[in-house]
Order: sequence, then structure tokens, then C-alpha cells
Amino acid sequence: MELNTEIKKATDPIYQKVSNVIPEIEWAFHAPLIHKINMLKKEKNAVVLAHNYQTPEIFHGIADIAADSLALAVEAKKTDADIIVLCGVHFMAETAKLMNPSKKILLPDMGAGCSLAESITGKDVRMLKEKYPSVPVVTYINTSAEVKAESDICCTSANAVKVVESLGVDKVIFLPDQYMAKYVQTKTKVQIISWIGTCIVHERFSAHEIKDIKKQNPEIVVLTHPECPPEVIASSDFTGSTSGMSQYVKKNQPSKVMLVTECSMSDNVQVENPNVQFIKPCNLCPHMKTITLPKILDCLEKETNEILIPEIISRKARKAVERMVAVGRSH
Ligand code: 13P
Ligand code: SF4
Repeated sequence: MELNTEIKKATDPIYQKVSNVIPEIEWAFHAPLIHKINMLKKEKNAVVLAHNYQTPEIFHGIADIAADSLALAVEAKKTDADIIVLCGVHFMAETAKLMNPSKKILLPDMGAGCSLAESITGKDVRMLKEKYPSVPVVTYINTSAEVKAESDICCTSANAVKVVESLGVDKVIFLPDQYMAKYVQTKTKVQIISWIGTCIVHERFSAHEIKDIKKQNPEIVVLTHPECPPEVIASSDFTGSTSGMSQYVKKNQPSKVMLVTECSMSDNVQVENPNVQFIKPCNLCPHMKTITLPKILDCLEKETNEILIPEIISRKARKAVERMVAVGRSH
């Protein structure tokens, strides 16, 4: 596909926005794909829901909604579109299907997994329920529909503490992220029984690395995601969901900031906050990065990679997700 005058005219306003994070030479490759996807969306009454970790050409070029996991779930339910292309990972596409079962949900790469979702199965949850009878199960949204179906309620990084406390009990099973479980435990008196999952992106950050960056940049504000190890969270100034971090930057406009999370977040937030200097630690999520413009175009054109969930699982999993949505968000 070529960057002709028509495509240039249609995509130039987007490039004006992202020119500080996407080199012009790369844009020549992205622009025709962006133009074609945006035309096809109109033709097919489709929307693109994208996670905050998607690359800037997806986030700023074709996303109708770009957000954290909780907002993606809520927006999936609200849409009038016939097709939702979920630019994110498999559990996010499954959650969209749970929230809006009559829609066609497409995931551009069916291999887009998540180390947390892969750390636990429905059988593991049944085993824990046998071990701790009558203790409610709070499950992070980064899990399969099968695991959600075994759970009482879901949560995301934007409402984990609120969800735990909404149950009015003194003990919960909290799955599957051991670091997020530790973080929640620092914020509540409810006893947390955890699992052994970790995120392969966030577990790689170290407090030592942050200390060094702070030493070289004394004025820096450090924001962490709750999937980070406890000592990393302890060395930061704010901890929140991906949208929580983004809103923090927008509201506080720190002169220098470091987002201790996936790489593309900094690029995406930088576009909207040109006066903030970003120190970018670069840990890529290989799963998020399987989603590319050529794959998005291909799956929307052919309507392939549709997410389907057996009714016996979706009925129970939907209850856990909807119960979480009713609790709302903390930030
Ligand atoms: P958020 O819910 O904060 O967007 O995080 C999702 C995720 O996968 C973080 O690694
Ligand atoms: Fe999963 Fe971590 Fe990737 Fe988020 S960043 S999708 S938790 S592997």
C-alpha cells in the first residue's frame, strides 16, 4: 500500500499528534493501513477498543476507545457497533464477549496471551475452594473465562481493594497475581490468600533500577502498576492502573516522570502531555506486541479470529465480571 495524496490528507492530522513518538519513515508504512482500517470500520459498523499498551499508531491512529482493562469491559457493553476489534490480549477480548455476547468480537492475533492468565486454570481454583471452603474468590480480570466462571467476583488494578472490601468478609482468595495480592494486603485489613502468578513484564523491574534513576533525576515522579514487586511499588510515588497513571500525569503535569510499566504507555501518554519529560524504562509485553496494523486489517477484512465462549462457562463468568463492574472504580 502506498502513501498517496488522499491517504496523506486523511492521516496528516493524526501524524501531527504522534510525530514526536513515531519517525516519519515509519509513518509512511502505517498511514495507508490506518486509512484503510478507519474506512473499513465505517463500512462494517465496527469499533476498535485498544488497551493502553498498544503501540501509538494503533492507540492514536485507529482506536475509538483506548483505555485500561476495566474501562474496556465497560465500553464493550455500551457500544452499538456490530463488530468490536479488541486490540489487546485474549482475556480482554473474552471479557468484551462476556459483557456484550451478541456482538462479534475479533482479536487480531489469537496467540496474544498473558503470563498471569496462563498461571492458573479452573481446576486450580476448584482445588483452592476445597482447601478454603466458604472463602470468596476474587479474581483479577487477567484470567481466562474458565477461571472467572469459578470465581465470585472479578477485579482489575483500578478497583482491586474496593472489590475486596465490598464483600464485607474477613478473608478472601485473591487470584492469580502474587504481587498484586501483596499490594492489596497493604491497603486492607481483609486477609488475602494468594496464588503464585506474576506478570513477565512487571516482575522484571527492580527497586535498585528505580533508585539509580531517582539519584540521576532527583525531581522525577515515579508511577508504578500494582503488578510490580512490592519493593518497586514501595519506591514509587503513586500506584495505579494504566489509566490511573495516565490520569495522574494529565492532572499533575510533573516536569519529569517515569511510568514503571509496559513501554508503549509512555509513548501514548507523552503524545497527550508534550510538556512532561518521560524517562522510559523499556519492558515490552510480547503478547500485546503481537497486535499489529496488518493483522488488524486482515482480521477486520475477513472477520476472522472471532471469540466464542461456551454458554456453560460464559453464564457464570459474566456474573463475576458484572458484579465487579457494579462495584465501580477507585481511580
Ligand atoms: P490495566 O487494567 O491497569 O490496564 O492493566 C492491564 C494489564 O495487563 C497490565 O499489565
Ligand atoms: Fe499480561 Fe503482563 Fe502483558 Fe499485562 S503486561 S498482558 S499482565 S503479560
